Amino acid sequence: MGQLDGKTALVTGAARGIGRAIAEKLAGAGADLVVCDLEHAWLAETAQAITAMGRKTLALATDVSQGPSVQRTVDEALQAFGRLDILVNNAGITRDGLLVRMAEEDFDRVLAVNLKGTFLFTKAVARAMMKQKSGAIINLASIIGLIGNAGQCNYAASKAGVIALTKSAARELAGRNIRVNAVAPGFIETKMTAELSETLRNKMLETIPLARFGLPEDVANIVLFLASDASAYMTGQVLNVSGGMVM
Ligand code: NAI
Repeated sequence: MGQLDGKTALVTGAARGIGRAIAEKLAGAGADLVVCDLEHAWLAETAQAITAMGRKTLALATDVSQGPSVQRTVDEALQAFGRLDILVNNAGITRDGLLVRMAEEDFDRVLAVNLKGTFLFTKAVARAMMKQKSGAIINLASIIGLIGNAGQCNYAASKAGVIALTKSAARELAGRNIRVNAVAPGFIETKMTAELSETLRNKMLETIPLARFGLPEDVANIVLFLASDASAYMTGQVLNVSGGMVM
């Protein structure tokens, strides 16, 4: 018996990295999965891994920053599975640069994907969850949304926004038995962080008390906890998964 038997989960940005690890973790706990990402083809490996675990999966091309694309994805998911119990807003991007040099479009795009995408999916899925009178929504924030970071004004603002959105949605939806929580990862080994220089990586490692970078699975374990009834009395919370980088 898995913790999520009989449940259906939707994970955005599930083609690789943390999103893929989350999708596989939830499937391993018994959930059927709707996985989406910018390009359908990118999802093939995630979908294969899920079906190999004996779970049903639907893979869809979605741009989380576009309202019609989000609505189409949620409609198709509900048509295929009849319900959505878990939503993980994971899709996210960086467009780093110092404030005085940051292009307006780099600010807008990061806010559109990270923050507006989370709003659009939460809105579309909340309607179905309200009818069911149950649901768990988990948003990927970042410790950068708590402490800020030079060169990441756009990203930090988007993730601070995700935290505020999480708390507001948690207050609005609690009466319908829908819990909304966030995870704030520190430095996790994925494509997003692979592009950083060796010098910067070493400097960051010195700031992590547990003395290692995180793995996508470290984040996926906490998302599973927030998606399951083990966290039934938690809503509006932000859990740091940063090896102690932020306390
Ligand atoms: P990643 O870059 O490896 O994967 C992100 C996925 O999102 C990709 O598959 C990408 O195609 C997809 N995506 C991007 N824009 C999209 C859009 N408009 N519509 C649909 N899908 C889109 O990133 P990673 O590292 O796995 O990050 C996942 C989440 O975790 C992000 O929200 C990120 O901000 C957050 N995070 C990551 C940390 C890290 O150290 N890697 C630290 C803190 C937070």
